[in-house]
Amino acid sequence: MILKGNIIFTSTPEKFDTYPNSYILVIDGKVKSITKEIPKGYTEEDVKDFGDALIIPGFVDVHVHGPQFYNSGIGYSKELIPWLNEYTFPLESKFKDIDFAKKAYEEFINELCKVGTTRACVMATIHKDATNILIDLFEKSGLGAYIGKVNMDRNSPDYLIENTKDSIKDTEDLILELEAKNNKEQLKPLVNYIVSPRFVPSTTAELMKNLGNLSEKYNLPIQSHLDENRDEIAWVESLHPEVNSFCEVYEHYGLLRNNQTIMAHCIYNKPEEIELLKKYNIMVAHCAQSNFNLSSGIMPLRYYLNENISVGIGSDVGAGHTLDMRKHIISTITASKMYWVDNPKYLPLSISEAYYLATKGGGSFFGKVGSFETDYEFDALIVKDESTPEMFSLEERLERFIYRGDSKWIKHRYVRGNEY
Ligand code: GUN
Ligand code: FE
Repeated sequence: MILKGNIIFTSTPEKFDTYPNSYILVIDGKVKSITKEIPKGYTEEDVKDFGDALIIPGFVDVHVHGPQFYNSGIGYSKELIPWLNEYTFPLESKFKDIDFAKKAYEEFINELCKVGTTRACVMATIHKDATNILIDLFEKSGLGAYIGKVNMDRNSPDYLIENTKDSIKDTEDLILELEAKNNKEQLKPLVNYIVSPRFVPSTTAELMKNLGNLSEKYNLPIQSHLDENRDEIAWVESLHPEVNSFCEVYEHYGLLRNNQTIMAHCIYNKPEEIELLKKYNIMVAHCAQSNFNLSSGIMPLRYYLNENISVGIGSDVGAGHTLDMRKHIISTITASKMYWVDNPKYLPLSISEAYYLATKGGGSFFGKVGSFETDYEFDALIVKDESTPEMFSLEERLERFIYRGDSKWIKHRYVRGNEY
């Protein structure tokens, strides 16, 4: 397959790579080359010509709660813990009804497609059947995802709690069912399991230990929440006097897997916790919009980048009010500017740096994803910004799409070379 258009992406954060009016050759779902002329051995008939449109990598959302799509945008005068108790837990409990779950998850995935998210790391609810529905719907959608059933066996309302043994068994059942399905297919599966303890306060030591064992046994990644809110951190410290920090609880119970762990938020990490992020090559999911909405705080993003900590961007819907990653790129930049005001050593992020985090940065959790360098999986959006005056550069057209464009401008979407 050959596509022609204005190709733009970020192989490095510092600047955009731009290829005006160029051809991108995709074989077996992977980028082979970008050229000014038709690649050798092909003719015009082999080319899909998108004219003046932009061809850009699809967005990667490294932290999103599928079931919370319905309460996204509600209850933001609360902070984290009351928001969970009053809004989120009642909604998540409804996912024991599989008809409700099916409808809600269909709407969630439709919206993900619409806004141009091509890969996502998704937390479901504690319910095994509903999580299976979510997995099936993702498989049908053509999108790439890591999906995990949430685990909660303490400090949770009666209507949304599991006993420890069931939580472990349901998790292992889901892992095995997905593995069996994936093994039947020849190709590298697009939908995979991710072990998903909600956060320390809602998981007992025994559950955490067993989830760590499962992720080891089946070589699976892990996602959870870390250092999001001051009351949450104080709560964790009171629950676990045996260790020195929130992050160390995860380490202690085997939930920090090298290169295979995402921790969302990470606003208040102490120096020793930052050392753990580095030691285990943890990916930080930066959820700036959620951090504004629940008055959680501003993550020291530039500091993390200076320390070479890997970072992706998460919508954190429902604490984020949109799935549209363009808005999360904007929140990331805005948060970095407001952080800089009081910390002038840490410069704000540029548009290319933020775009990099939302594509190749988060994409690295999925392999060679989020860029158009050779051998990267071809996840792409074709964007027609029809009303743009000709005076803008490709970089400016992309910036304008992010800040004041519309997801209706996305005319085609590809994951691994397949249009969906
Ligand atoms: N910490 C534990 N659960 C959640 C959740 O659902 N959303 C957010 N933002 N933080 C959490
Ligand atoms: Fe979250």
